[in-house]
Amino acid sequence: MMPRVKEVTAADGELLTQIAAIEAQVFTDAWSLASIRSSAESPATRIYAAVTETDRVAGYCIVTQVLDTADLENIAVAPEFRRQGIAARLLDAAFAGMDADIHLEVRASNAGAIALYRKYGFTECGIRRRYYENPREDAILMLKSRNEENK
Ligand SMILES: CC(C)(COP(=O)(O)OP(=O)(O)OC[C@H]1O[C@@H](n2cnc3c(N)ncnc32)[C@H](O)[C@@H]1OP(=O)(O)O)[C@@H](O)C(=O)NCCC(=O)NCCS
Repeated sequence: MMPRVKEVTAADGELLTQIAAIEAQVFTDAWSLASIRSSAESPATRIYAAVTETDRVAGYCIVTQVLDTADLENIAVAPEFRRQGIAARLLDAAFAGMDADIHLEVRASNAGAIALYRKYGFTECGIRRRYYENPREDAILMLKSRNEENK
């Protein structure tokens, strides 16, 4: 069965622990459990998780919004759950009805994520040279404009 997407709060300690475990598995510059927990406590930040029937986290995303500008801070799906539409559903949950320009940065070599973002309506709007470490790499900046439908 398809995992359900739910918003995670600072009180969901077990879900936050699982998110940190996926984060550590997937990223070389992973956020710590402490920084994920402090994101969960921040009023500007929302965390969404795709959770299986057995309460396993299949994927998550972390989004910050200040006024009419949002940032996709992070998104990851555990390897065994990929290409089942989970990231797309996380983005839907995070941005449904959000009246904001959405920004993100992605490693230049991350073709899978860039394909996901393009499919979701993001376009490339800049480059930040040598932005990432481990390994050192450029960031591609992408934007989904809130007025896109009117263009
Ligand atoms: C990027 C990531 C989040 C995608 O998660 P996912 O649940 O597999 O994505 P979805 O199944 O929702 O994909 C939706 C669409 O995005 C595109 N896409 C996703 N992953 C892709 C890949 N590896 N290669 C090419 N296209 C891809 C496809 O168009 C896909 O639709 P399709 O499967 O019908 O072809 C996942 O691969 C991941 O966790 N990667 C490691 C972490 C990461 O790089 N995060 C982004 C940091 S900026």
